[in-house]
Amino acid sequence: MKGEVLDIKKILNNLSENIFIKESKKGLMLIDRISKMTFSLELDDYDNIIRQNKKHVLSKILKKDQLMILDCTGGFARDSAIISSLGNNVTMIEENLIVMRILKDAMSRIQNRKVDCIFKRITTKLGSCLEYIKTTNKIYDYIYFDFMFNNCSTALPSKREQFLRKIVKNDINTNKAIVEEVLQRVGCKVIIKEHIKSNNYQHLDIINTYKEKVVKYHLLQGKNGYYKLYQSKK
Ligand SMILES: C[S@@+](CC[C@H](N)C(=O)[O-])C[C@H]1O[C@@H](n2cnc3c(N)ncnc32)[C@H](O)[C@@H]1O
Repeated sequence: MKGEVLDIKKILNNLSENIFIKESKKGLMLIDRISKMTFSLELDDYDNIIRQNKKHVLSKILKKDQLMILDCTGGFARDSAIISSLGNNVTMIEENLIVMRILKDAMSRIQNRKVDCIFKRITTKLGSCLEYIKTTNKIYDYIYFDFMFNNCSTALPSKREQFLRKIVKNDINTNKAIVEEVLQRVGCKVIIKEHIKSNNYQHLDIINTYKEKVVKYHLLQGKNGYYKLYQSKK
């Protein structure tokens, strides 16, 4: 796992020509040169989502609290915040330097006490989730995946999603290979979120699918029966 010191030069080299980061009084801002669209991540805004956490489908899937959850595709931590707000401990992995830099900056600017408590239960790690799973000796109850969707829905995505699309690489075959390898390596439950119209994980042994209007969540069981035993001996 890479160190958490995020070099701004490295980050700028990673950005496409049309996107740049501006440091403002309100924190870091992403700007699209062409459309002139701007975006600042404000985690206090998650208060609205968190307030409705009990109605969220993740509350039905997880059932209990005090769980150890590994969010393999952290992004701007909206899902991690929901999972943490349900009383769980979250380790959130994000491999994209820019996304992590924007998130860390936003975390340092949280004002809302409830949101602050929720983010105190989220540990962030920069790097590839597969590398993390291969090397960690931590045991998780659930592993969560939410890769970028390939289908564009008819509704206009939020600015947060639009910028994520502009800065994050996405390859469905790579994503599928990661999920398949993780299922072989772990013995805990695995949750995969995908667009309601996609069927990228049909070939896997899905225990249950929880459907919402735009997205669905598949619940699967990791195949490694020795997971807990092996990990605790390490
Ligand atoms: C759709 S976004 C996740 C959004 C997130 N669930 C949220 O609520 O904000 C997917 C994120 O996963 C990250 N990602 C993709 N593959 C990854 C991997 N193998 N390891 C770590 N992060 C990964 C991408 O960089 C991107 O930021």
